[in-house]
Amino acid sequence: MTLRSDGSPARTLATVLVIAWALGIGLAAAGARTPGAPAKATAAKGAPSAAPAAAVAQAGEYVGQDTCLTCHEDRNYKGTLHATTYNPRTPASTQGCESCHGPGKAHVDGSGDTSKIVNPKNLSPQRASELCATCHNRGGHMLWSGSQHDQRNVSCITCHSVHAPKGAKQLKAKTEIELCGTCHRNIANKLNRLNHMPVREGKMQCSSCHNPHGTANVRLLKVGTTLNQACTSCHSEKRGPVLWEHPPVVENCASCHDPHGSNNERMLVAKPPFLCQRCHVTARHPPTPYDGFLLRTSGNSNKMYGRECAVCHQMVHGSNAPAGKAFLR
Ligand code: HEC
Ligand code: HEC
Ligand code: HEC
Ligand code: HEC
Ligand code: HEC
Ligand code: HEC
Ligand code: HEC
Ligand code: HEC
Ligand code: HEC
Ligand code: HEC
Repeated sequence: MTLRSDGSPARTLATVLVIAWALGIGLAAAGARTPGAPAKATAAKGAPSAAPAAAVAQAGEYVGQDTCLTCHEDRNYKGTLHATTYNPRTPASTQGCESCHGPGKAHVDGSGDTSKIVNPKNLSPQRASELCATCHNRGGHMLWSGSQHDQRNVSCITCHSVHAPKGAKQLKAKTEIELCGTCHRNIANKLNRLNHMPVREGKMQCSSCHNPHGTANVRLLKVGTTLNQACTSCHSEKRGPVLWEHPPVVENCASCHDPHGSNNERMLVAKPPFLCQRCHVTARHPPTPYDGFLLRTSGNSNKMYGRECAVCHQMVHGSNAPAGKAFLR
């Protein structure tokens, strides 16, 4: 401790020099950052060209967070769970900055040599994620490796920020709609439709149904192993089994409902009665398909109005009544 405070003025001078020096390197590196050139730049600094900084740094020694902060005051992570110590696995409880950036002695001895410290931003997305996954590898994170996002180069630090988070859970955006919407614009837009899950209203999140960290279900659905299991985890009354099943209901809720939103009532994918008539065009009853002409000229107009088919076929999700074969009761 005394050693350090004694060295303070010298260090301040060193810092100034180091920053000036690093700016020079920065410029040189920026100049070299043309396609094909980065490897050369690294090699010039004496680091093995194929190995990322991690490999270099991991062999080194730790200096402790206080030392890092003498030069990087602005790189704190206060106010996040990482900075708390009630949990023995947080960075603050373990190696501090160096839990993520790797041992920093060589970087410090080299007066801030950037080739001797891990900057997750410069790692491949998969390597960056592996770094976080050294701690975050349980529970809802177990299936990350090889998941849809991992495969497509979306990494932990695409969505999360350690040093400057904007939303809860250290997200890079204030809300999930905003975050997910940067890539899934079409989905976020559906939430503006007349009928939608109450995500915009804040009663629900994308993550109520999806786990962006990987799942055992299709489409990153959080619960179950089939789409329907995901729906019925909340809408349990639709789970069945029922005496009289309606095949599309058993098969896939999304054949009639758009889970993100639609301009039709009850988020239906088509406006009734056309919803039903996509499949029931040849039904004995009623004479189908209904169009404007039939509506005006036949007694079948009652099948077009109000809740249309479902006025009579109330139990469209299936019936438990002994005489419920036609879902009328
Ligand atoms: C003597 C001052 C000094 C100390 C102590 C220091 N650094 Fe640095 N560090 C620098 C300078 C200078 C740079 C280059 C300019 C910049 O990015 O701020 C740098 C850059 C970095 C970078 C970015 C690397 C890159 O590729 O752009 C990281 C990450 C980093 N330091 C982490 C740490 C950590 C973690 C510690 C503690 C183990 C630490 N530093 C201690 C001076 C220091
Ligand atoms: C939980 C992991 C984690 C911890 C702990 C952590 N960092 Fe970082 N740091 C990152 C990540 C990830 C980045 C990459 C960009 C970002 O998300 O801001 C980064 C970027 C940096 C950079 C480079 C900024 C740039 O623009 O390239 C510096 C410097 C830095 N951190 C210093 C520190 C210091 C000093 C500490 C300790 C006080 C620290 N970090 C603690 C994960 C961490
Ligand atoms: C040294 C272990 C360690 C490393 C490395 C680490 N974390 Fe954490 N992280 C933790 C612990 C422990 C918690 C707190 C969990 C708790 O108490 O619920 C946490 C919490 C979080 C949270 C939850 C914040 C909240 O408000 O709920 C996020 C998000 C997170 N980490 C992202 C990351 C990312 C991204 C990285 C990689 C850049 C990373 N972590 C690296 C240990 C680590
Ligand atoms: C596509 C965006 C996205 C990616 C990629 C992502 N996350 Fe998250 N993460 C979220 C969202 C949204 C939440 C909040 C909802 C929730 O808790 O599931 C979250 C929550 C968390 C939490 C706190 C809740 C919990 O489950 O403990 C941690 C920790 C976390 N993420 C770590 C990580 C790590 C580590 C990675 C990389 C392996 C990662 N995240 C990749 C979006 C993402
Ligand atoms: C009520 C549950 C639920 C909510 C809330 C929800 N989703 Fe989905 N999402 C689903 C289901 C179910 C599917 C599968 C639909 C299918 O395969 O027909 C899906 C599919 C997807 C797909 C991939 C298929 C496609 O249509 O492109 C993406 C991307 C997606 N959702 C993103 C989001 C985002 C972003 C949010 C938040 C704005 C969100 N979801 C909110 C249930 C939900
Ligand atoms: C940086 C861009 C990016 C962000 C941000 C992002 N995603 Fe994705 N997401 C992707 C890519 C790329 C795919 C793969 C698309 C594909 O396979 O067609 C994907 C796939 C998905 C899928 C479909 C998986 C499947 O099986 O088809 C879902 C669901 C999804 N993301 C949900 C989310 C949610 C929820 C969020 C916000 C927490 C989010 N994504 C944020 C890029 C992103
Ligand atoms: C996380 C719980 C949850 C999951 C999972 C879920 N829902 Fe919902 N659902 C809700 C909530 C909450 C509402 C809004 C109820 C309200 O506003 O009164 C809702 C509303 C609906 C509505 C509209 C009801 C109306 O009155 O307009 C339909 C249809 C629906 N959900 C179908 C589905 C389908 C299909 C799935 C699977 C893709 C699904 N839900 C998954 C919670 C969930
Ligand atoms: C064959 C088309 C079809 C399928 C498949 C279907 N639904 Fe529906 N659903 C409807 C229709 C039509 C309505 C409106 C009924 C009404 O207004 O009485 C509706 C209404 C709803 C409602 C809101 C009213 C209520 O009854 O609570 C929810 C919630 C719902 N469906 C959930 C589901 C779930 C969950 C599944 C999958 C297990 C599913 N639906 C499959 C056609 C379907
Ligand atoms: C995705 C295709 C599909 C959609 C959409 C659909 N159905 Fe069906 N429906 C079926 C199939 C398949 C059967 C079983 C037919 C069989 O057993 O001959 C069935 C059976 C029925 C039966 C019972 C017939 C019988 O004799 O057992 C009724 C009533 C029915 N559907 C009404 C509706 C109504 C009302 C809607 C609109 C809300 C609708 N269906 C939407 C595919 C669909
Ligand atoms: C005014 C009430 C009413 C309306 C509206 C109605 N149905 Fe029916 N539907 C019935 C009755 C009654 C039966 C005969 C039940 C039986 O045979 O036990 C029936 C039987 C059926 C059957 C099974 C019999 C068959 O033909 O094999 C299907 C499928 C069906 N309706 C589909 C529809 C569709 C699709 C619509 C909307 C376009 C619709 N129904 C509107 C009253 C109605």
